[in-house]
Formats: sequence, C-alpha cells, structure tokens
Amino acid sequence: MATARLRIDRTEIVAPVSARLFGSFVEHMGRSVYTGIYEPEHPTANFDGFRQDVLDLVRELGPSIIRYPGGNFVSGFRWEDSVGPRGERPVRLDLAWHSIETNQVGLHEFADWADQAGVEIMQAVNLGTRGIEDAAALLEYSNHPAGTALSDARRADGRAEPFGITLWCLGNEMDGPWQIGHKTAEEYGRLAAETARVMKWVDPTIELVAAGSSNAEMPTFGSWERTVLEHTAELVEHISLHAYYEELDGDVDSFLASAVGLDRYIGAVAAIIDDVLESKNLDKTIGISVDEWNVWYQTRFNTVDKHPLLTGDWVEHPRIIEDEYSVTDAVVVGSLLNSLLRNADRVSMANLAQLVNVIAPIRSEPGGPAWRQTTFHPFALTAAAARGNVLRAEVDCERVDTVRYGAVDLLDVAVTADDADVVLFLVNRSLTEPLTLSVDLTGAPADSVLAAQSIHAPADGDRFTSNTEVHPDAVVPVALTGVTLSGDGRHLQAELPPLSWSIVRLRARDAGVMREAKENNRG
Ligand code: AHR
Repeated sequence: MATARLRIDRTEIVAPVSARLFGSFVEHMGRSVYTGIYEPEHPTANFDGFRQDVLDLVRELGPSIIRYPGGNFVSGFRWEDSVGPRGERPVRLDLAWHSIETNQVGLHEFADWADQAGVEIMQAVNLGTRGIEDAAALLEYSNHPAGTALSDARRADGRAEPFGITLWCLGNEMDGPWQIGHKTAEEYGRLAAETARVMKWVDPTIELVAAGSSNAEMPTFGSWERTVLEHTAELVEHISLHAYYEELDGDVDSFLASAVGLDRYIGAVAAIIDDVLESKNLDKTIGISVDEWNVWYQTRFNTVDKHPLLTGDWVEHPRIIEDEYSVTDAVVVGSLLNSLLRNADRVSMANLAQLVNVIAPIRSEPGGPAWRQTTFHPFALTAAAARGNVLRAEVDCERVDTVRYGAVDLLDVAVTADDADVVLFLVNRSLTEPLTLSVDLTGAPADSVLAAQSIHAPADGDRFTSNTEVHPDAVVPVALTGVTLSGDGRHLQAELPPLSWSIVRLRARDAGVMREAKENNRG
C-alpha cells in the first residue's frame, strides 16, 4: 500500500480558474463536423441539421470555447467558400486531410451551432496559402457592424449582428513540414506580425494567438517561439502550444507521467516568453494557449488505420483518427487537466482536441447513437467543479521511475477553491497499488464531503476497458469510498484505487460566513 501526504492552504493561490481552460476544438476533418455535430438526416437532427444527441452531450461536457475550423485544414481553407447560399458553395479538395469538403457547414452554420451549444468561437485564419488580406477580410466580414461590402455581405447572408469573435489564431502549426504553406520561424514571424497589425486595425478589441510549436520534440522547439515572439510580442496576447501523448512500446509509466511532460513544456515556453518580454522591455503578459492537447495514438494513425492519406481515395468526411479511449487514457487526460490547472498562472486557455469523433470525448455513428468516451468524464467533472482559485498543493509521496521523465510523484494533484468549496483532483499513477492519501486541511478547513467520485477499471474489466457503441457506459465515474473528514474539518483521509482519477468536493468551513463578508464588502 502506497501513501501520500498533501497540504492545502487557501492563501497559497496560483491564479484564478479561467473557464477558458476548458475549451475544445472542431476541425473540418474526418467526421468531426459531418456526421459529428451536423447530420440533417439523423433522427435527432434539429431544424438546422445539427444532431441534438451530440449537442446534449456537448452541453454536458461543458466546453467554454471551441477552436474552428482547423487545425491543418485551415491552412488551405478559403473562408468565402463557406458562406453565402449553400447551393452555390463550391466543393473543394481538402489537401490537409485528403478529403472532399462540401462547405455545407461554414461560418454561419457553425456560429448557429455554437449559440446552441453555449460556447464561444475561437477562429483560426489561414496563414498557409493565404495572408494579410484574407485574414483582415474574414475579420471584417465577421466583426464589423455594417456599411462595408464585407459586413453587408454577412448581413445579406443572414446575420444582421456581427459574430463578435474575440479570439483569433494566426495560422496553425506553421512549424510543421506537414502543414500546407509550412514556413520557417522567420517567415512565419514576419507574416504573423503584419497580419496581426492589420487585424487589430480592423478590430482592436480582438485577442490574437501566435502559433507556437506543434510539439516539444520539434527540432525547432524553443528557437521557433523565440523568433516568432521577437516579431509578434507587441501584437499578440497569446502564443500556442500543442501537445499530444500516447503510450509508446508498452511504456505505461512514462505515459501516466504525461502531465509532468506538459508541466515542463509549459515551463519552457513561459521562460521564453519572459525572456523576450524582458529583452524588449515590454510591460505586458503573453498567455500560453494550449489550443490542442489530448491523448492521440499517432503511431496507430501512421501505421494501422486505413485513412485516406494512406489509401489515396478522395471521399467526403472519411473516418480519420477515431481513437477509442481506455481507462488508462482517461486517467492521463485527468492528469493533463491537472497540469493545465497547476499552470493557470501561465496558461491563458486550452482546447481539448478534438470534440466529436476525431480523437474526441464524444463519439457518434451516422444514423446511430452518440456516446461518451472514457475521457469525457474527467473533462466534464473538472470543467464543472473547478471554480475560484487554483491553490498550490504541497505533495509528499513515493516516486516512480519513468524512462521519459525520470522519477515522478505517484500522486498527481490539482486543487481549486472558492468561498463555498474546496475541490481536489487526484490521480494515482500506480498500476497495482491503492494510494492512502492524508490531506492536511488546516489552511482550508472543511465542513463536509459533498461528493467523491473516481474513474478506474471496472471490476469486470482492465486498464484497456473502453466505452463503445455497444457498451457506452463500461467506464463511468463511480463513488469513491473510504473518504473521511475529521470532526474539526482539518484532516481528510482517502484511499485512491490503483490507476485512477478522482475528484473530492468539500464544503468549506464557514462558507456562509465568507460569502456574507464578501457581499457586505461589495455593499
Ligand atoms: O487535431 C488533429 C491535428 O493535429 C490538427 O489538425 C493539427 O493542428 C494537429 O497536428
């Protein structure tokens, strides 16, 4: 039996919890849009052709912002193809995913869907094949009220009011040789800066995201960020970071430590941001937009799956990277969410990539059901419960040796607290040992345990158990038993099952008193 000690103090604040940490991503790729969010022939389709069953699951998942329309797709995308009368929209080759794009869902349809899903759009512009003029035109079409050719075109296309999109990505993964219009850091930095300048002239209220590295293993990682920021630091509010993790060659210990990798990756980018801001004597902050993150079995994608990039067929919405997630993957996703919370002072937003079907927490079958993957659960529970401030937690526990990250803690943890609740997000990385956790709550006393849930392998399954069309609820959150709070509310004891993600919600002692004091101060 392994043991761990945790100490929590309300006054040790990392940063406020931003709802923007719980974004997601819809790309015109595979079945993310077509037969994912949109399927007019589906029995649950609403008036606009959106699948109501998928919409319901999206609302339950609770993402805040959705990045759109790519991803690699955006680097060959002509935005004007996707607006205007549907019958007149051109069918195009999508060179990023070797697919046929019908443009039946475009900016207006996606904005309608976003309204129905209750999410904010984060729009990417094409800096692969296009540049300043098209980015500025799309922004004018979207955000300018009226009275110009482009804004009046939007009105004629059915939206009298501007879309009012605040978040804009300056291209996507421009460091990757797979990207349409791939560029050197110097080429991209110049283009991003000039595009940013003009976009801010069109609408000074927007927030811009410069494209950072596609992953921490890119040969240009580090120098890419530095060069790009040297060109853009005055003009952007965020720089992106993309991070995908998978279990390689059965090295599950390293896989389970992916959050340590993400912590270090974020730390490295943060240090470069600080350096560049200091060297330029700039008094501003630049946030890290982790605008693609997830578990993704890329080795399977490149070797096993029959995707159109390998077969050479040109088809509409092919099945691409529809990874089926296991209990192990859910635990890793939970710990990656912990990492985002722990780094809330540097991470300004984050997008689970993606939302439906394509490496997604939600799966759907054409004409058939939609269901929650295992990874749905830690995301939904964290997004719903993380409120107030992220607290720095002091951990004292055993360590496990990993090939990729060296010795890492057996316990991965994030803590949030507002006036009413304290919430613990806990991962036991041991494959075999339960973890007895002892929490010192002297600095954050609690009145009661509101809820305690856990995701781990079911009794009749193993760590590879997943949710499928036939067994959509094989892995669901279950009650975490054995959680006890001492009478004085200053000590909590819990037993975390092997290979598990857990959430413990505590009602803060004197929650009412704190709320009242705050309200009186406001008054
Ligand atoms: O999310 C899938 C793809 O992964 C995106 O299109 C691209 O940006 C990344 O490489």
